[in-house]
Amino acid sequence: MERIKTGIPGLDKIMHGGIPKSQTLLVSGTSGTGKTILCSQYLFNGVTKYNENGIFLSLEEPPSSIRENLKEFGWHMDSFERAKRLAFLKYDPYHIEDVFDILESTIREINAQRVVIDSISALGLHVKDSSELRRMIFNLSEILRRLDCTTILTSEIVPGSFGLSRYGVEEFVADSLIVLYYERIKSGFSRAIQIWKMRGSSHSETLHPYDINNKGIAVSPSEDAVLKS
Ligand SMILES: Nc1ncnc2c1ncn2[C@@H]1O[C@H](COP(=O)(O)OP(=O)(O)O)[C@@H](O)[C@H]1O
Ligand SMILES: [Mg+2]
Repeated sequence: MERIKTGIPGLDKIMHGGIPKSQTLLVSGTSGTGKTILCSQYLFNGVTKYNENGIFLSLEEPPSSIRENLKEFGWHMDSFERAKRLAFLKYDPYHIEDVFDILESTIREINAQRVVIDSISALGLHVKDSSELRRMIFNLSEILRRLDCTTILTSEIVPGSFGLSRYGVEEFVADSLIVLYYERIKSGFSRAIQIWKMRGSSHSETLHPYDINNKGIAVSPSEDAVLKS
């Protein structure tokens, strides 16, 4: 199976090589777990290390604020945007279906191999029930698969709730699922990452610690994390 490397330290190792090409990976976690950073690092590494163009479709934060935050990590996206190697797509809540047409045409225009949609649970605000959300995410994944894009979707979990995603449907549509945890341990907080499933691939079955620092996310592939639950 062909793999697309995230280039995120430790992550490809626990995924036994990277994200299966043309598949969809869902990354879920509560606010502040680093989902937006992980997605951005995937796209930045794509252009800088693997010569693969990428698109960031932001359904929550405005692109200008994402761009600004990423400078913190030394990831200057604007020069790649001018070179048509990266694109940020703005979100229009009133024309959500049009956004998917724009996504498809931009993929063709810049020949994107990597796509990020952050967050897919934001779509839940625009559909009437979870079956419609499931159909929408499914259609979207099919378009992206047909275009040979390897996609990371995010889902924002509400703290204290049960389940692997906001609406409990996102994980069924995605080929692979990673859950990010941020939990209180004694007087501090601990970050941990778990690969929940990967279609057609083996993967680490251990809960691993990860860290966010001024270089982005780094996973410790040879350590086990301990959480209270
Ligand atoms: N330079 C940094 N060094 C260490 N941690 C950082 C840095 N920048 C951001 N973070 C951490 O990343 C978190 C935000 O990550 P983000 O990807 O926006 O989360 P999410 O999208 O899951 O809500 C912050 O709450 C903070 O804990
Ligand atoms: Mg975010």
